[in-house]
Amino acid sequence: MDQNELKKLVAKAALADVRPGEILGVGTGSTVDFFIDALAQSGLSVPACVSSSVRSTRRLEQLGFRVLEMNEVDGIGVYVDGADEIDAGFNMIKGGGGALTREKIVASVARKFVCIADASKKVPVLGKFPLPVEVIPMALRAVAARLREFGGNPVERDFTTDNGNRILDVHGLSIEEPAALEAAINQIPGVVSVGLFAARGADVLLLGTAEGVKRFERR
Ligand code: A5P
Repeated sequence: MDQNELKKLVAKAALADVRPGEILGVGTGSTVDFFIDALAQSGLSVPACVSSSVRSTRRLEQLGFRVLEMNEVDGIGVYVDGADEIDAGFNMIKGGGGALTREKIVASVARKFVCIADASKKVPVLGKFPLPVEVIPMALRAVAARLREFGGNPVERDFTTDNGNRILDVHGLSIEEPAALEAAINQIPGVVSVGLFAARGADVLLLGTAEGVKRFERR
């Protein structure tokens, strides 16, 4: 099975976590695109979704889902999203698609975070995938200098986020303590958010493997 087939498999498996009648949080990325398509085909009754990107909002609306703004809801039941890397503690690197800040905001109000990922995303230590950091444009140079102090090599991505900011992808990190690094990077003036999801990691991991979908729950 190729990577896309594994993504489709986990996307479909995540339907079992969707609670009919509850507001659903929807992440961003190619795996989530498959999830949105599977959701539309499932006929499950979802009163409304809250989306983490313009890209997902567009796809949801095209398929007939109602999409609400975060400020219109008190909370979200399940939040389904992909990851670029996930470790054994369910800490993640996210933001390969550039939607990390909105993903973090939506995840923060969700009761349950269901991560859908193909097997290549499961790693012993986070950091091989460059860590995305969303930055206010005027602070790019200053933030890059501070990020080098953590041993990484920040490279500006040719991309503007949905929030009008820029992204530094930090290469060369080996993230042994994700929660501490997340907190430290968040303290740098000019950083909007870092694509380390440790303070609010996943609760459930659905991993698409050649042997089928494996389900792991955070203890
Ligand atoms: C989007 O900003 C990311 O956080 C995605 O969730 C992550 O990059 C996974 O993307 P794919 O599902 O496309 O691999």
